[in-house]
Amino acid sequence: MGSVEEKVAASGGLPPAKAPVVDIMDVKDHVGQEVEIRGWLYNRRSSGKLQFLILRDGSGLIQVVLAANSVSPDDFAAGNRLTQESSVIVTGVVRADSRAPGGFELTGTSLRLVSLAGEYPITPKEHGTEFLMDNRHLWLRTPRQEAIMRIRQEVTLGLRQWLADRGFIEMPSPILTPSSCEGTSTLFETTYFERKAYLSQSGQLYAEAAAMALGKVFTLGPTFRAEKSKTRRHLIEFWMLEPEIAFCDQAENMVIQEEMISYVVQRVLANRAAELAVLERDTAPLQKVTPPFPKIMYDDAVELLKRKGHEFNWGDDFGTPHELAITEEFEKPVFVVGFPTAIKAFYMQPFPERPEIVLAADLLAPEGYGEIIGGSQRIHDLDLIEQRIKEHNLPRADYEWYIDLRKYGSVPHSGFGLGIERFVSWICKLEHLREAIPFPRLLNRIYP
Ligand code: 4AD
Ligand code: MG
Repeated sequence: MGSVEEKVAASGGLPPAKAPVVDIMDVKDHVGQEVEIRGWLYNRRSSGKLQFLILRDGSGLIQVVLAANSVSPDDFAAGNRLTQESSVIVTGVVRADSRAPGGFELTGTSLRLVSLAGEYPITPKEHGTEFLMDNRHLWLRTPRQEAIMRIRQEVTLGLRQWLADRGFIEMPSPILTPSSCEGTSTLFETTYFERKAYLSQSGQLYAEAAAMALGKVFTLGPTFRAEKSKTRRHLIEFWMLEPEIAFCDQAENMVIQEEMISYVVQRVLANRAAELAVLERDTAPLQKVTPPFPKIMYDDAVELLKRKGHEFNWGDDFGTPHELAITEEFEKPVFVVGFPTAIKAFYMQPFPERPEIVLAADLLAPEGYGEIIGGSQRIHDLDLIEQRIKEHNLPRADYEWYIDLRKYGSVPHSGFGLGIERFVSWICKLEHLREAIPFPRLLNRIYP
């Protein structure tokens, strides 16, 4: 008991393992061997001398069969007392059994109770949304939520991998900022010691500076919008991936987007088939997501909407019904290109022959999911960016550094922002964005 490691290990409250400790998803590699599983009771049934305990450990579910004559009487009694979500450490021998969920079962050899759970509020019966949201910290333990979170990780891993493989460098942007990026109406105000500050709406402006330093960059982090709209597509706090590329025009920007989105969708189909099955996701529409994606000018989208009976005028911004009407014309995500300058952010490059529209595109996802990406070519001309900052009534002093980027080796550059929860929602076909993030922040909710 001399070393620091030994002293700490002996104080941690976990008994020494009786057999190799294995995640449930890995029991397949241990058929015929005794293993130790550490998890929680998900469900149970018993018939006198036999108990059938379904355990979960976050990696999967497994049935443990406890027989009165194969474990000690104390262990058997402990098994009988287990309530839903009690934490346990179980040892047993792995058996392949095609009838078992997951294909494997454990013939129990010992059971240790770690903590007996009180009456668990979330039961297999149906619960209302508000109740589940109040219990989000517990709701996360259900197989459906687990599946969504695993898909979310596949998405962010896939995005990072795709970008890193192409030489993009991750450059985090600050969350506390002095200025706005996407208009002042949704700014989340806070204080920064003596002065006013805002939670970042977008890391883009910093990504632009980073792109002039490293060429191809991205930022992936939380962004904040004090959106007063209570829709199933808006979060107050959401995660955004924002690549930014020097010497890149809007045409190339769209190629990057369609290839990256297609890669990630196909990767989720390949690596997360089991999770998509838990969600009962029809994967046929996702299989069609391959580059290139269709592209339509905003002008033509307006005509399309009119033809379909929508009251929509050139210059209006799309609402959900409009995005729906456009996307149902296509099987793949579709780019709408060339939005009116007046309804877009200050930094977007105008079309050279038509200053009333900008070199910007939104990527609209199929199946009713609407905008998942907003992207554009950025103004690289010094005079024009100065003029826009003035026109948008932005305090110039806070943007001097941003203007500098146009003074010292300015180049055409482009980038885009992908809403992670919107992307995950579409892939998982969720009703509402709230399930795509562990702890959603909504207009009327900051708990838990
Ligand atoms: O279109 P947006 O506002 O674009 C930007 O912020 C740019 N600065 C991005 C860039 O070019 N670097 O937002 C980008 C994406 C949207 O397409 C949407 O997917 C997501 O961010 N998004 C939201 N997701 C959830 N809740 C909200 N309130 C969102 N607002 C935007
Ligand atoms: Mg947008």
